[in-house]
Amino acid sequence: MSLRYSQISGWGKYVPEKVLTNFDLEKMVDTNDEWITQRTGIKERHIADEAETSSSMAVAAAKKALDVAGLQATDLDLIIVSTSSPDYLVPIVSSLVQDKLGATCPAFTLVTGCTGFVYGLVTGHQFIATGAYDNVLVIGVELISKFLDWTDRDTCVLFGDGAGAVVLAASNTPTGVKSFDLGSDGAKGKHLIVPGLGTATKIDHAMIDRGEQYLRMNGREVFKFATRVMPKSTLKVLENAGMTVDDIDLLIPHQANARIIDLAIRRLGIPKEKVFVNLHKYGNTSAASIPLALIEAIEEGRLKEGDHICMVSFGAGLTWASTVVQWGQPLGQTAEVADEDLIWDINALRKRLARTSTSVRVKARTVLDETSYKAGTLMLPLYTSVGKRLPWWSRKNSRKK
Ligand SMILES: CC(C)(COP(=O)(O)OP(=O)(O)OC[C@H]1O[C@@H](n2cnc3c(N)ncnc32)[C@H](O)[C@@H]1OP(=O)(O)O)[C@@H](O)C(=O)NCCC(=O)NCCS
Repeated sequence: MSLRYSQISGWGKYVPEKVLTNFDLEKMVDTNDEWITQRTGIKERHIADEAETSSSMAVAAAKKALDVAGLQATDLDLIIVSTSSPDYLVPIVSSLVQDKLGATCPAFTLVTGCTGFVYGLVTGHQFIATGAYDNVLVIGVELISKFLDWTDRDTCVLFGDGAGAVVLAASNTPTGVKSFDLGSDGAKGKHLIVPGLGTATKIDHAMIDRGEQYLRMNGREVFKFATRVMPKSTLKVLENAGMTVDDIDLLIPHQANARIIDLAIRRLGIPKEKVFVNLHKYGNTSAASIPLALIEAIEEGRLKEGDHICMVSFGAGLTWASTVVQWGQPLGQTAEVADEDLIWDINALRKRLARTSTSVRVKARTVLDETSYKAGTLMLPLYTSVGKRLPWWSRKNSRKK
C-alpha cells in the first residue's frame, strides 16, 4: 500500500461577537484583572450568545475553510468534529454540522477535550494516507461557556468559546502531518470533570442543586500534568519525525495558560519568537484553541512553504496529543525525494545525538522545577483530612453555600 500526504488546503475560524474582559469578570466573581493576567496571561475571551450552538459556530468556521480550499461541501469525503460541548448528547453534533453544511459524506464526533483537534487532524490524516478519502474536514469547536459555573472563579475566568476548521486534502508532495504522539492517562481524569452529565449520574434536582452539570477542575493537578507532558510529548513527536527542537519553525501550544507555555518552552530551550500565543484574546477554547492559533498564525504570515509546525496539546481525560506538520508544498521536492529521508546517514546520526542531549537537558530542568514546586507546597497548610470526605468538586460546592 502506498501512503499519501495530507496537505492543509483550507482553513477558517469563528469566534462569537461578545467579548468578556477580565474587568467584566471582576463584577461577577471575586477576582481581578491582575490575578488573571499574572496567573494565566488571559485578558479577554469570546462568549456565545443564547442563539449560538457548537454546530452553528462549527459551520461558520467550516464554510470559510471550504472557501479557501476551493471546495463545495459535497466534495467532502469525511467530517470530523472535535468537541466536548456538543449541541446534544444525541444526535451527535458532527451529523448536525454535515446537514447544515449540505455535505453528503460520513461524519463523526471525537471527544478528547482540549486535545480534540490534534487527535482529529491525526485521524483525518490516516484516512487520506491510506487512500480511503481525498478531502477531510477537521473542526475543533467549543461552546464551553454553557458548561461553566459562573460563580466558580477557579474555572469561569479561564475559558472561552470558538471554532477553527481545516480541510485536509490528499497530496503527492511531502506536506501535512509528518508525525504524531497521542496519549491518555485516565487515572487523572477526575481532575477535570463534568461530574453530572453522563451515565455515572442520575440527572435530578439534587444533582443540579449541587452544580454537577458544570465543569470542575483541580487546577494545580492539571498544571503539574501539563508542564510535564508538554515537553515530553514535544520531544517524542520530534523524535518520531526524525527532528530536533532546532528544526521547529513554529510551536503552537494549547492556549490554556501562559505560565504553562513558558515553563514548557524553557525546559525545551525553544525561543519565545518561535512560539505562537493568542490566549490573551480568547482564553482557553479547548478543542478550538490549536486551530484558532494555527489559523491566526497563517493570517499573520507566520508560516512559509516548507516550515515545520509543532502543535502540542493537553486536556481532559487527561490526554495529550502532538503533531509535526510541514506547511505548504516545498518547491523542488517530490514524494520520491522524501523517501530518501529514510536512509540512515551521518545526518540522522547527528540528529539522534542532538535529541539525546536535549532530552537529558529537559529531564534535568523538570527535576529542578519539581523540587522547587515540592518545597513550595511544604509551606502550605496541611490538609490532613483530604480524601476521607466527599470528592473535591462536591466539597468545593458545599463550602460555597
Ligand atoms: C487555575 C490556575 C490558573 C490557578 O493558578 P495557581 O497559581 O495554581 O493558583 P492556586 O490555585 O494555587 O490559587 C492561589 C490563590 O488564588 C486564589 N484564586 C483562585 N482563583 C482565583 C481567581 N480567579 N481570582 C482571584 N484569586 C483566585 C485561590 O483561592 C488561592 O487563594 P489562597 O492562596 O488564599 O488559598 C492554575 O492552576 C492553572 O492554570 N492550572 C491549569 C488549568 C488548565 O490549564 N486547565 C485547562 C486544561 S485543558
